[in-house]
Amino acid sequence: MAGTIDELIARIKDLPVSEIIGRYVHTVKKGTQTLAVCPFHDDSNPSLNINDGRGMWFCFVDNMGGDAIKFVMLYRKLEFMDALKDICDKLGWNFSDYHQPKKASPKIEMGKKLLGNSSKLFRKVAETGKYPHFQDFLEKRGLSEEIAKTYQLGYAPNGRALCDYIGSIKDPKDKEFALQISEELGLIKKSTYGDQSHYDYFRDRIMFPIWDQFGQVIGFTSRATTDEQKPKYLNSLDSFLFNKKNLLYGLHLAKNAIRDRDEAILVEGNMDQVALFKNGFEHSVAIMGVALGDNSLIKLLALTKNVILSLDNDQAGWKASIRVNAQFMAQGITPRFIDLGEHKDPDEFLVAKGATEFSKRVEEAKPFVDVQIEREFPEQIPELAERKLELLERVFEVLSPLKNSLSASERVITYAKRLGLQSDSASIVKNYEDYLDGVRRKENRAPAPPPIEEEFPPMMDYEIPIEEKVELDRQLTTVEVRLLQNLVQHPELLLKDEMAELLDFVGNDEVKSYILKLSELMYEIDESEYISVVQRLMSDDHYTAELTAVVGGALYRYQDNSLEDKVALKMIEDIKKSLQVEQLKIEKQFLKEQQGRAQTQEEQHNILQKLMTVDKQLIEIRTTNRYGKTSK
Ligand code: UTP
Ligand code: MN
Repeated sequence: MAGTIDELIARIKDLPVSEIIGRYVHTVKKGTQTLAVCPFHDDSNPSLNINDGRGMWFCFVDNMGGDAIKFVMLYRKLEFMDALKDICDKLGWNFSDYHQPKKASPKIEMGKKLLGNSSKLFRKVAETGKYPHFQDFLEKRGLSEEIAKTYQLGYAPNGRALCDYIGSIKDPKDKEFALQISEELGLIKKSTYGDQSHYDYFRDRIMFPIWDQFGQVIGFTSRATTDEQKPKYLNSLDSFLFNKKNLLYGLHLAKNAIRDRDEAILVEGNMDQVALFKNGFEHSVAIMGVALGDNSLIKLLALTKNVILSLDNDQAGWKASIRVNAQFMAQGITPRFIDLGEHKDPDEFLVAKGATEFSKRVEEAKPFVDVQIEREFPEQIPELAERKLELLERVFEVLSPLKNSLSASERVITYAKRLGLQSDSASIVKNYEDYLDGVRRKENRAPAPPPIEEEFPPMMDYEIPIEEKVELDRQLTTVEVRLLQNLVQHPELLLKDEMAELLDFVGNDEVKSYILKLSELMYEIDESEYISVVQRLMSDDHYTAELTAVVGGALYRYQDNSLEDKVALKMIEDIKKSLQVEQLKIEKQFLKEQQGRAQTQEEQHNILQKLMTVDKQLIEIRTTNRYGKTSK
């Protein structure tokens, strides 16, 4: 029986959810309920509830939920299509009946052809040697012809090179299609003047092609040739072929070296990747922008577990390192950190100090988490026990993504000693574990208990075997989770003007774009369609598993009752403040670390000024909280 993927999804949805989940974990039927020990957190109680009527599962400890497919995606860490295949395998269905690895669509074919040809064109232009901006760039950055060739570095002249190329396509239909796809890929743009003509998107820029793992050019990053030209770096638009978050620049060149050396150096800028490669550190990759997508993380960890962070030596780079490091720690990995001293990035370090010195720094690299904690400690360990305990709590916080692993508890003991605390190791570790429990409880601030709870059978009645636990990739902050939950449960919040201001404080791009999408939908749909529309959005593979599971959990508990206006506004205000506080705290942490390294009195003074401003802002936010308006 052959069919489409949609038909397969429908066929899966026709089955009771419990039937599918039961193929993965042990479930127990109890009346109309099906229960299981949730595999997503450490637990021995059956907190996973499977509701066949609603076609959803929900864990009220994790506060997450979704349909059967979502469960398999999370449990087996699979992409949507792979999860479908996995379910087919489990059920004895033939996945290939629904999914013929068919020829790529004409759109994809055309897209790949255009990108491949553009790359060749830019390279050819560069090779003419007639463009001083390109030659100067190679010279200034110390790039040999050989490196330029390896990276297929090209030059987009100041003109209409691409438009002319597309214009030369003979068949008018092909030409029209090529224009349309080039526009979608961000290679050309339609002129805003009335004549509907096109112009090249990249002009007078150094072009760095970006390849996928099969060696196909899927987009470009490009650099300005002069300081006046803005922006310095300009990437291809995200498109059906190019997704910045899921890319690591240089991976196709670095892959084998990473595997061979069982080590990877992660940098921030593509020029840093090139510079490292050129200096013999072929096992380097660059994140594109400041975010590391789940996909990239998993791709990298499949090659090595030894990760070395060497992002830019500035505030943005430090913040990004903290985030990226926590992502790795949540996977049980503790990346190391390269101290670049006074140099801005690996590229500049290599120019100033050379490859041997960089090697030394790699060898000396300490775990990032230790550097982070050390930088947060004041120079003089405070005398006061309370202050020491505050610092220890901060240590707990930083280590918490590592959960109660040995790597975390060993550190907890070390830092307690370093702070001169007297308690014995066992009670320190116990304290840390209590902290973790507290965090988990707070994160999952128990919702109104679901009605099924009282029907829980006593534990003696049946035996649930210990299931394999699955570590979820958690990237969302507590406040971001709270924001998503509140919005899904009270979608009327999305229609408030005050939301616009709140969004300014959402740092996570995915959360932001999800909220915008949801707001858009709110204007288009009827109340009665709400649940089904949000459910459908949950299977949209643009969003990470964590986000959709949080949304699923909130949706499971959705009840159609509107908030009073006053309550709604207060809710928005509260979350906005929490987001602000979250941002200011990161800022403060960074300044403190800078303070420790300031060289001159003037620097010290400047940082102190900034710290005072941050503190003032924090106090202002707190006082507004208490009295409902800013006090002088
Ligand atoms: P930097 O400004 O530190 O550039 O931006 P860089 O990597 O040192 O580049 P060079 O050495 O001046 O050529 C760091 C990274 O931030 C992104 C790019 O990924 C860049 O590599 N960026 C920067 C942009 O996306 N757009 C910009 O306008 C600037
Ligand atoms: Mn640089």
